[in-house]
Amino acid sequence: MIQVNHLTKRYAGRTAVDSISFDVEKGEIVGFLGPNGAGKSTTLRILTCFLSASEGTASVAGYDIYEDSIKVRQHVGYMPENVPLYPDMRVKEYLQFRGRIKGLRYRDSLRAVNEAMDICSLSEVDHKIIATLSKGYKQRVGLADALVNKPDLLILDEPTNGLDPNQIRQSRELIKRLGERHTILISTHILSEVEMTCGRVVIIDQGRIRACDTPQNLIRRLRRPGEIMLEMQGDGDKAAEKIGKLEGVKSVKKTETGNRWVTLSIHTDPNIDAREDIFGLVTEAGWKIRELASRAASLEDAFVDIVQRPSGAKIKEEADA
Ligand SMILES: Nc1ncnc2c1ncn2[C@@H]1O[C@H](COP(=O)(O)OP(=O)(O)O)[C@@H](O)[C@H]1O
Ligand SMILES: [Mg+2]
Repeated sequence: MIQVNHLTKRYAGRTAVDSISFDVEKGEIVGFLGPNGAGKSTTLRILTCFLSASEGTASVAGYDIYEDSIKVRQHVGYMPENVPLYPDMRVKEYLQFRGRIKGLRYRDSLRAVNEAMDICSLSEVDHKIIATLSKGYKQRVGLADALVNKPDLLILDEPTNGLDPNQIRQSRELIKRLGERHTILISTHILSEVEMTCGRVVIIDQGRIRACDTPQNLIRRLRRPGEIMLEMQGDGDKAAEKIGKLEGVKSVKKTETGNRWVTLSIHTDPNIDAREDIFGLVTEAGWKIRELASRAASLEDAFVDIVQRPSGAKIKEEADA
């Protein structure tokens, strides 16, 4: 659905996107991640033919971005960063106008707008002036705009930017639902959202691709020391000393919780699970356990690790080692 080959964009004097290559297959939901200024919006603007590349090639929805830019725009639903809307128009009126601009005939545009409003739960505000809508509704109008020409492919640039946690959850559900019918390339920096919705992520930093894989694989490759949390009642100092001698345990830190409960934060070697040993040791001593949990690594941990690595370090090779 998308093929990107050594795409490069230079703005006067600086390279915003530096020879990137990646593919998106039909039916995938791919997260496009990176810190601010990484080059995400620039890439998405090039792929949607709103900006020309300096070098490289790309095909989107089967069309070349240079040769067939009109076709690309007809077959892609694009929601730009900071959704530009006409604030003085009413929701339905605006979407119909957009549908017509995208080449829909009047009758078709009526049907398409109603459908898009239905999908984005906008029907109850269809006659409201856009300026009076909340941020969450405005984002949904942007999304309905992207959907109105029934594209196979959706390219969404930070669709959840500036939304509150509740709106983010709703938008996540919506994007998941859209993923059943559309191929989606979505840039965001809400990583928990990516972990739940995206089958694959492309991580870009300083204009270069730093990783490209499933969230699960990125997390698995993260060679982070293990972290276990133990909350127990008994002789905390003695427990810390004994646990510190277990195989694979690197350090133990104790904090008093009050009422004789202590919390121990235990760091272990990567990929070592010392929970059973700790459990045995504590119960044998006759102490009580309230909690014993290992903190699982998240996509956020993997992202921070990948982006902080010196550039040039390849993630793939490490996995193969
Ligand atoms: N029109 C422009 N002119 C010059 N530099 C730009 C322009 N647009 C973006 N940049 C620069 O290109 C880099 C990438 O920007 P952008 O693609 O917006 O990143 P992201 O969307 O990942 O935050 C940034 O350093 C930004 O300052
Ligand atoms: Mg951006």
